[in-house]
Amino acid sequence: MRTLGALGVHCACALTAVTAQDTAKVSAVLPVPAAILDSQIELALGDFSILATKVGMLATEDNVMRVADRARSGDIPKVIVDPVIASSSSNSLIDEKGIRAYREHLLPAALVVTPNIPEAEILTGMAVKDGEGMARAGSLLVDMGAAVAVVKGGHAGGSNSMDVVVCSASYDIRIAIDALVQDGRPVEPDETTPLSHATGQSPEGVVSQSSTSLHITTIMQSDRPEIVLVAPRVHTRNTRGTGCTLSSAIAAYMARGDTVVDAIIKAKQFVTRAIVGASGWTLGRGNGPIDQLGWNERS
Ligand SMILES: Nc1ncnc2c1ncn2[C@@H]1O[C@H](COP(=O)(O)OP(=O)(O)OP(=O)(O)O)[C@@H](O)[C@H]1O
Ligand SMILES: [Mg+2]
Repeated sequence: MRTLGALGVHCACALTAVTAQDTAKVSAVLPVPAAILDSQIELALGDFSILATKVGMLATEDNVMRVADRARSGDIPKVIVDPVIASSSSNSLIDEKGIRAYREHLLPAALVVTPNIPEAEILTGMAVKDGEGMARAGSLLVDMGAAVAVVKGGHAGGSNSMDVVVCSASYDIRIAIDALVQDGRPVEPDETTPLSHATGQSPEGVVSQSSTSLHITTIMQSDRPEIVLVAPRVHTRNTRGTGCTLSSAIAAYMARGDTVVDAIIKAKQFVTRAIVGASGWTLGRGNGPIDQLGWNERS
């Protein structure tokens, strides 16, 4: 909600679970019954013109199914699914039946899915060790029905925090590329790209640009554009809600009219700024919150 507010978007919120948690752990979860969740969605739909939808933790198979039904029927548009299965502080936030419902029902109705690396492994059943694995997992998630997959690298080591975006062939590739080549000037292939492709095929086209501290590379793998977003890794304990922030910012920028690829790039910039902004503070005993409201820049 802080992210949406910071980006000038009103949030009509539907609660999916009551949790007992602090900055270090989640100690208890009481899921909201699917009928109550659906009533909240029903009222929001009757009250507002919903422009985009961010789906966070769902907690139960029933809740996943209910949201999938709403997405499939088109009631809730532009569905950004953050598959909250494993967070920084808790390994299992939904059971196996719930995970199957994500795979079989919610992903096919998603415009964007944003797993972290452990979640990408659980959803695809493959091990993800590096950028190449992130790209392959993203491609499998697109095979499973998501139009666009963003595999987030916050949990990987290294001096950069890299996210890999894979777009389905049915998604308008031209829009994706236009969004990157903002000044209409394709640039030369970038030798420094950290993503090496196992296929060994030479990419059909590569564009890259630097934007603030974000390094963006697009690789056309056969008919699927892959976009690699690299930000410097911030050395900080304050990474609470980074994933929630990224997916909410994608929804916010889409609500404001950006294309999905533009929204993902701006969201990555937003979360990077929020992590940098919070790196100097101490809030809570565990992983502290990040600076979505730009307090650091204002003080
Ligand atoms: N230390 C860091 N420095 C820079 N960027 C980071 C850092 N940690 C995470 N990110 C970025 O934050 C975003 C969220 O990624 P992450 O993998 O942490 O998601 P997550 O595990 O779902 O988060 P959460 O713990 O909120 O569920 C990604 O864009 C990732 O690259
Ligand atoms: Mg997460």
